[in-house]
Amino acid sequence: MKKTIIGNWKSNKNEKEALQWLEVVGPGIMRIENLEISIAPQFSLLNLLNKEIKDEHYQLSLSAQDVSPFEEGSYTGEVSAKSLTGLIKYVLIGHSERRKYFGETDEMIVQKVKMALKYGLIPIVCISNLKQARHFDTNHILYEPLFAIGSGESDTPEHANQMARKIKETLGESTNVLYGGSVDSENVISFVLQSQVDGVCVGGASLNPQEFLKIIENASAI
Ligand code: PGA
Repeated sequence: MKKTIIGNWKSNKNEKEALQWLEVVGPGIMRIENLEISIAPQFSLLNLLNKEIKDEHYQLSLSAQDVSPFEEGSYTGEVSAKSLTGLIKYVLIGHSERRKYFGETDEMIVQKVKMALKYGLIPIVCISNLKQARHFDTNHILYEPLFAIGSGESDTPEHANQMARKIKETLGESTNVLYGGSVDSENVISFVLQSQVDGVCVGGASLNPQEFLKIIENASAI
């Protein structure tokens, strides 16, 4: 199975910066066939990027960084799964920054997963330890240890592999497990080489298009 590389832009980039990024990365990944590549921009950039990716036939899907736990209605500020249908493939749910800054609970995350599935989106549930995994019924997990996020100090590839194994033993062998936390062009190979790690999520290092391309090129060399 192809390994997956997801770029998580978090709250970065405006339209101009997003298009400049795509102008470099889009053509650069044209010949990459052994990886699945997705980018998670802010909601406000999804439509523009979607149009550009379709027009140029770039081999890249879009992801969302969050979704509402509510279906639709009077929930000011929330973005519903229904409104994302057809626009994105994956949706990150329960990222540790959502839990830390916005008080997201396991209960809300369970609701978000339900909404995503109802509207044909693939939920990727973010966890930082094995205990959290037990609360969710999902086929896609992003394992991100807290110390590694944005710190420049990743987990060891061997430990990420052990965690991925344990997650699969807990949730089922068909569970897709990604690793995230300070992945860059230097260390990406060691993560994608791990047998139990099905891909990586890249935050900070995905912002620079040249660095993101290097990550893709290095990961595709396995
Ligand atoms: P980082 O972020 O690559 O900047 O550590 C990863 C993430 O939070 O998804």
